[in-house]
Amino acid sequence: MPSTDQTALQFSALGIRDVSGIGLLFAQLRANFQSELAHASETGKWEQIRDSWIASDLAIRANWIDKAPDEFKPILSREHQSLLDFIELGLAVTRTLRQLGATTPDAVAAQFQKLRSKFDLELGECADQIDIGVTKVGWLGRRSGVIMNLTESWLKQSTVELRPIVGRELNALRTHIETAIEQRQSELAAAAESQALARDRIDLSLPGVQRPLGSAHLLRQTFAEIERIFLSLGFRVVEGPEIETPYYNFEALNIPEHHPARDTMDTFYLEMPRGAEPRLLRTHTSPVQVHTMESQQPPVRIIVPGKVYRRDNPDATHSYAFHQIEGLAVDTDVTFCEFKGTVEHFVREFLGPAIKTRLRPSYFPFTEPSVEVDASCFACGGSGCRLCKNSGWIELFGAGMVDPAVYGFVNYDPARVSGYAFGLGVDRLSQLKYGIDDVQLFFQNDVRFLRQFS
Ligand code: DAH
Repeated sequence: MPSTDQTALQFSALGIRDVSGIGLLFAQLRANFQSELAHASETGKWEQIRDSWIASDLAIRANWIDKAPDEFKPILSREHQSLLDFIELGLAVTRTLRQLGATTPDAVAAQFQKLRSKFDLELGECADQIDIGVTKVGWLGRRSGVIMNLTESWLKQSTVELRPIVGRELNALRTHIETAIEQRQSELAAAAESQALARDRIDLSLPGVQRPLGSAHLLRQTFAEIERIFLSLGFRVVEGPEIETPYYNFEALNIPEHHPARDTMDTFYLEMPRGAEPRLLRTHTSPVQVHTMESQQPPVRIIVPGKVYRRDNPDATHSYAFHQIEGLAVDTDVTFCEFKGTVEHFVREFLGPAIKTRLRPSYFPFTEPSVEVDASCFACGGSGCRLCKNSGWIELFGAGMVDPAVYGFVNYDPARVSGYAFGLGVDRLSQLKYGIDDVQLFFQNDVRFLRQFS
């Protein structure tokens, strides 16, 4: 029989992976059985149907239950048993009462009682609305539900004497089934709702989700500290591009091609189309001096925080990217004295009032004279230690009076204006101030490090 073909398959060939697949499989078998039975009266094949379904019973045992993984065996057995009950019931209700041997009112009542018990049992096993739906179709279905079949085979075929009794019993059974199904449905719906409510219940006593706020990176903090100090002296904060032309990074700062100063500032060049002007990652923030002076007349008082790049191998004091704050003050009456006072003020504000400052002669192509600004060693107070290499002084940053040659590049009149500039290494100053021995720590983003400065 085509409808029971599946029972010839091994369990593993059914492709069933969970319990709900088993439920579905048996529901399909029931539906097949019911539809065959619906046609039994037309085809007169009642016996054949019975025989084939009895055969399928054996196949289900051999091919499915015996072959299934252990975890599926109990549910398979249960479903199988209820299918057998269903088949038995179906076969019974398509016989006439006479064929069943019920020829007295009591025997009729007993037959109905048996059906009612079967129904109650089946409904009691319904775990959800789908189960109930299957049961409902089986009993009340218009095409070949139990009640329908009973009407055809028990009521219509009954003797005239028994008919009123059969009719009454049948009505009573139908009413019982309908109300019981409705009641069970609303019970299950209420249970499902309270389960959903329990699931969605908001527990106000639970701790909230903690979202760590984090804090500014130490370098950001140092930027902010330095910016604050210079803002209080009337400096403006400006920014400039990280991608530069060699002109701004070098030439206009009085570093011509082949100048030895370029050796210490090897950098990364961008791949450009043939014939295009070369572009590089700026090696210092000094080019912004030029941009600013090009775009405005004196007085200029700016600081330029930013990122700079060099082709250095990473170690405790070098990184391919680091941070600077450039300073530039240009006006008609800026003196070396103002320069020195500003630098000393900055050092005291940044490192503490006890720190002394020393200017040491140095060289930068864009300043003349040039200096290195040293601070008295804040570790030993100047008496000499490992940090200051026993000199009592620590080199802080480079600075100087702006070289008049630079004014030539930006069309300032060197006879009229004067100024000073400085270049603070933010990483270096942070390292010195907070005692950090490896600049790489700034870029590794290890929260154990960062948290110490939060
Ligand atoms: N641009 C220099 C560098 O990166 C630092 C510097 C030195 C900047 C002296 C200045 C300065 O403005 O006056 O090495």
